[in-house]
Amino acid sequence: MHGVAVPGISEAMDGRSEAHRDVLVAFPGTATPCNDRALSQVQEQGRNTMANRRKLLIVAHAPSPNTLKLREAIQSGACHPDIEAVDVIVKAPLDAGPEDVLACDAIILGTTENLGYMSGALKDFFDRSYYPCLEKTQGLPFAFYVRAGHDGTGTRRAIESITTGLKWRLVQEPLICRGGFQEVFVEQCEKLGLSMAASLDAGII
Ligand SMILES: Cc1cc2nc3c(=O)[nH]c(=O)nc-3n(C[C@H](O)[C@H](O)[C@H](O)COP(=O)(O)O)c2cc1C
Repeated sequence: MHGVAVPGISEAMDGRSEAHRDVLVAFPGTATPCNDRALSQVQEQGRNTMANRRKLLIVAHAPSPNTLKLREAIQSGACHPDIEAVDVIVKAPLDAGPEDVLACDAIILGTTENLGYMSGALKDFFDRSYYPCLEKTQGLPFAFYVRAGHDGTGTRRAIESITTGLKWRLVQEPLICRGGFQEVFVEQCEKLGLSMAASLDAGII
């Protein structure tokens, strides 16, 4: 990661993570090298290189065109070309489970607010993941965003409560995209994705 101003990230990361040059791009449910050169480097360098890479999991509910834009913006920020050694995995909550959480180094959660709470899909993800992860993911760095038509506080409280139980570590201020849809939400999500991936890449979370 070089020469990119990353909001919310300390100066301390600048110049670190020199070892890996492959840039990976994510497709929903996969972590895939973005071009043939990266793919062949990964294949040539074998297990050690793969073992040194870090995994950022994005689990976000996107039931509308606007919320899809937000999830894509998170993914696009996380796949910034200057991020060198982070694999990004994007999943809808109903497709994600404890095995994904156990395999990742950090997680970004995204949800709509529905009836004062997180989406049923994200709640189902937590219901299936809570106990299998409870003793194994303490300290997991995470961040989250909420798309809320007019509020968002109930969802924020609920996510904070569950993740406190899991002893996950909130490393970014929660992003609440509240009110009528604005393009600035897309920029904020992109910055959040970039911030998390850059922090992982630099080894500061
Ligand atoms: C059944 C239903 C319940 C909702 N409940 C809330 C709510 O409690 N609080 C809130 O801020 N927005 C609520 N909303 C608005 C959604 O959060 C919003 O429509 C959703 O995030 C999609 O955003 P978009 O219209 O920009 O695509 C609700 C929407 C629906 C369909």
